[in-house]
Amino acid sequence: MKPLEIKKGIYWVGVVDWNVRTFHGHTYTTNRGTTYNAYLIVDDKITLVDAVYGPFAYELIEKIRQIVPPEKIDYVIANHVETDHSGALPELMKICPKAKLFGTEKCKEGLYRHYYPEWSDSSRDSSGSRSGTTLNDYIRDGNWDFQTVKTGDTLKLGRRTLTFIEAPMIHWPDSMFTYCAEEELLLPNDAFGQHYATSERFDDEADQCALMDEAKKYYANILWPLSSVILKKIEEILKMNISIKMIAPSHGIIWRRDPMKVINAYLSWAKNETKAKAVVVYETMWGSTEKMARKMTEGITDAGVNVRLFDVARSDRTEIMGDMLDAKGFIIGSSTHDNDMLTNIAGFLEFLKGLKPKGRIAAAFGSYGWAGGGVAAIEKVLKETGIEIAGPSLSVKYVPDEAELKRCYEFGVDFAKKM
Ligand code: FEO
Repeated sequence: MKPLEIKKGIYWVGVVDWNVRTFHGHTYTTNRGTTYNAYLIVDDKITLVDAVYGPFAYELIEKIRQIVPPEKIDYVIANHVETDHSGALPELMKICPKAKLFGTEKCKEGLYRHYYPEWSDSSRDSSGSRSGTTLNDYIRDGNWDFQTVKTGDTLKLGRRTLTFIEAPMIHWPDSMFTYCAEEELLLPNDAFGQHYATSERFDDEADQCALMDEAKKYYANILWPLSSVILKKIEEILKMNISIKMIAPSHGIIWRRDPMKVINAYLSWAKNETKAKAVVVYETMWGSTEKMARKMTEGITDAGVNVRLFDVARSDRTEIMGDMLDAKGFIIGSSTHDNDMLTNIAGFLEFLKGLKPKGRIAAAFGSYGWAGGGVAAIEKVLKETGIEIAGPSLSVKYVPDEAELKRCYEFGVDFAKKM
């Protein structure tokens, strides 16, 4: 694939990873693959903004070579340490060892921890305390030439100047955005990205439903717990009154037709804004809890409220979280096993707890044989997550009869009214 000129003299030199199906270990399913976007700015100083995942270093270097000899790169901007953006740096820096790297202080430490771990080992004495060699000493001793930058620092490339904006915890401590005023271009690395492999590069070319679906899923599974930081950062950038005509993230599609579309979506998600929408998630042993879940879902539907139903053992957790991001209500169910909930739903709730949803209501339900426990266990985790329990739970012994299924239906109707 050829590089693509996204603005005069600025090229996408990234990689499309069509077949990656899990990310962040196996915590995130990438059913539509992903891209690792890197951008080459051709000015008096040849500048690369971000790299790609290590196994694709060759593709990055070859794309750069179609524009300029890679050894001519003067500057490399490292907006983020995570290996999907920095993994190709060691190969690249072998070709242009004189290139100067720019990133935050945390980025410097992170890159050296990733690619020069001997620094941290050699600088510790036998007790494990650090002695002698500092990180700066190590860098001076012939390794990468790294210059740390802070918010407001600028780098003149020639006709263009880059401005750096630290963005700690969006989503790592080292994260940074790079802005080019002359091009009205924001390069925010992971922020506003999507795990979405396509032959199209721009929002006006892409399938709009798939694009927003992937942007939402990305936010839900990676950024949701960082919402207060994200809200502050977006408000800070909007107050800077800078013009943004294009947002070029490090994953997926580039926003050029309507960058405010994704900024406004982030503002809404960061404020934990919700719709009258319920997500019912359950795990069942022999089908009783499933019967209850289906009747509750019928009740919610007939009450005129949008609802989604998932058997957690057969569903994709990443997709469920995407659906939960804008839902006001969660109904969680499980059969009881060993006086507890089943294991898939337990893992699901543990993940949800880490995402720190705010302003939601929830209810619990499930079936049991001789002694309960599953429903109480669900309620305990929901409370620990900070979710308001909207009403009494519903439990059924063994198999729900007709009257109990009617109660499940009414449970759904009542829950819908609470939204
Ligand atoms: Fe796409 Fe945080 O790495």
